[in-house]
Amino acid sequence: MPTDYVKNCGLQLEKLKDKEDITILAIESSCDETACAITRGRKVLSSVIASQIEIHKRYGGVVPEIASRNHVMAISQITSEALGRAGLKPEDIDCVAVTYGAGLLGALLVGVSFAKAYAYALNKPLIAVNHIRGHVAANYLADPQLKPPYICLIASGGHTAVVKVDDYEDLKLLGSTQDDACGEAFDKVARVLGLLYPGGPEIQKLAKEGKPSVHLPTPLRNSEGYDFSYSGLKTAVINYVHTKEQKGEEFSKADVACSFQEKAVEIMTDAAVRAAEDNELKTVVIAGGVAANERLREVMRQKAEKRGFKVYYPPLGLCTDNAAMIASEAYNLIRSGAKPADITLDASATVKITDVSPRA
Ligand code: KG4
Ligand code: ZN
Repeated sequence: MPTDYVKNCGLQLEKLKDKEDITILAIESSCDETACAITRGRKVLSSVIASQIEIHKRYGGVVPEIASRNHVMAISQITSEALGRAGLKPEDIDCVAVTYGAGLLGALLVGVSFAKAYAYALNKPLIAVNHIRGHVAANYLADPQLKPPYICLIASGGHTAVVKVDDYEDLKLLGSTQDDACGEAFDKVARVLGLLYPGGPEIQKLAKEGKPSVHLPTPLRNSEGYDFSYSGLKTAVINYVHTKEQKGEEFSKADVACSFQEKAVEIMTDAAVRAAEDNELKTVVIAGGVAANERLREVMRQKAEKRGFKVYYPPLGLCTDNAAMIASEAYNLIRSGAKPADITLDASATVKITDVSPRA
């Protein structure tokens, strides 16, 4: 990429830093959703998502190679559709944003390559966004009155963590999962119960018909930090189901789903509430695909009400993967003086929550 382009983008970003209504076109392709969104300030002008769930359902989970191929087929059309719905032309946007990680490498590469070419062709700056921080930033679109500091519980298919958000770009990791992510545990438990992928919504539905009658352990109960463990809980559920099946005993799948969901929610909400109390913060935010869980929202509301905390969570469409949240995080980055990404930008399968931009 010629140095002129990079220099010019740096100058453009310096000007955008003080602009409130920045127009951002964002691309997200980290897993099984190809998404493009256009935002102006914190307003979502359009958000288009081509979900591959129906394709991956038959395999019981996401098949990386199939995901990449479908991203390639969808990305161009999704982008045109997002522009069309926003009533904009490509030249009307100020900046392009893209998820560079974490996620499936091949899937991420489709978005990163497309966004690099798109930004260069338009002579606009490109901003590389950490997907996990995007989930947090989804909340600023839903509730413009939300401002740091607050405690954020991030629960997705790949990450589960409690974070202290001191400023838009100042996130401190307080605790995280020591093994499986919460969404991953939902998906694995769903599979053992014979439910479809993705497991979270299926467990939620089945749990409504059950009671929390199956005793399950609370991992790390005696630990003082804010770390989680979901592997032990998942294994306890799998052992319970297998033992019942081997003995040929009847059991209620709905009760298993309900008991698992209650315990999964208890683990996360306890840690988030404790983190807020210890840090004397009165605002708790939930983010990520699992934030779509009705029971998690309900329990968090109840615990917060008792303590006089405020709770924020995004509407369902902004909980699971989307590109509007990537645009929202790009907005934070630009406003805090981010540098543009260049041709060397690569996709990263793993990133830390604390990574503001790609590690060199
Ligand atoms: O954030 P996300 O869309 O993708 C990742 O970044 O991982 O999260 C996907 C995860 C899946 O594990 C899915 O089962 C879970 O979020 N999920 C839910 C619900 N909706 C999605 N888990 C529990 N309850 C839900 N309603
Ligand atoms: Zn996600």
